Amino acid sequence: MRILFAPLQGYTTGIYRKAHAEIFGGVDAYYAPFLRIENGKPREKDLRDLNSFDGNAREGNAREIPQIIANSVDEFKILANALIAKGYTEIDFNMGCPFPMQVNRHRGAGLLSDIQAVQEIMDEIKATPVKFSVKMRLGQDSPDEAFAILPILNEAPLSQITLHPRLGKQQYKGAINFKSFEKFHEECRHPLIYNGDITSVSQICEMERRYPKLAGVMIGRGLLARPSLAAEYKGMRDINCAAPLNSDTHQNLLGKLFQMHQVIFDHACKTYQGDSQILSHVQSFWEYLEPSIPKKIFKKIKKAGKLSEYQEAITAMKELS
Ligand SMILES: Cc1cc2nc3c(=O)[nH]c(=O)nc-3n(C[C@H](O)[C@H](O)[C@H](O)COP(=O)(O)O)c2cc1C
Repeated sequence: MRILFAPLQGYTTGIYRKAHAEIFGGVDAYYAPFLRIENGKPREKDLRDLNSFDGNAREGNAREIPQIIANSVDEFKILANALIAKGYTEIDFNMGCPFPMQVNRHRGAGLLSDIQAVQEIMDEIKATPVKFSVKMRLGQDSPDEAFAILPILNEAPLSQITLHPRLGKQQYKGAINFKSFEKFHEECRHPLIYNGDITSVSQICEMERRYPKLAGVMIGRGLLARPSLAAEYKGMRDINCAAPLNSDTHQNLLGKLFQMHQVIFDHACKTYQGDSQILSHVQSFWEYLEPSIPKKIFKKIKKAGKLSEYQEAITAMKELS
């Protein structure tokens, strides 16, 4: 089964994706956080963070796939054209973001109930000569929303659909609706990717066993918390992340984590100015790793207001390992 790295705004940045592909690997494709419209134009900051793999070019075996979020066919065209101009030949369309800022503007999960707009965007996809996929939820308020647009999606030339089987109003918590996921899986004519709460190799294997026709799984927080997860699955083994810091596998994992952190740290120092800007770009690296690092050190990293304090915390962690 294919393993896809989910996009997480503020976490899976261009440099994160590139460093992960080089150091941990095991991921078939990295989805970039969405490109959005700002003042009528594609947001420059989002565009700058793309092309970490040089268009759709391969980094090892992995690819980087950009994503767009739009509330109408007009916004869709502006964003898709900006990516096509950059040389991308595959684009993901977001119909799942639950953040009120987007939903209230009729984007992400807020678009799922607008059958007319979804139809117009799918018609545009038919007329655009690059590959498109969709990442979506069951609905904003009800799973009926996904089933109402599924016939339109089935008619569109999509390369795949990724489904996060929650509602927008649940954001990223609460029960996953497997019953609706199964129904969607049965009725969907495109390759289907499952997304939601996967954190271990055994869970990936369980999804494979339960849904043999599934095209893959997309993992976000699980990979941020355990960057070796995709490679572990490809090598079919579970590394015990709660093992003591000096155990063999954990040692190896930590070595790679420090290596990855160094790449991201060096990039932040080169790209941003001033301690607070640099810190805001490196502290997020550790956020989902909290369970794997000593509590005291995690606190120091989070609280660091100066680069020197941050570096002291990292050195202390290296000395412990
Ligand atoms: C902070 C944050 C930012 C996110 N940004 C995006 C995004 O830009 N595009 C997108 O499709 N999903 C985004 N997501 C959703 C994730 O891609 C993923 O669907 C979600 O985390 C559930 O998968 P997981 O349980 O494997 O993490 C974001 C989620 C979080 C928590």
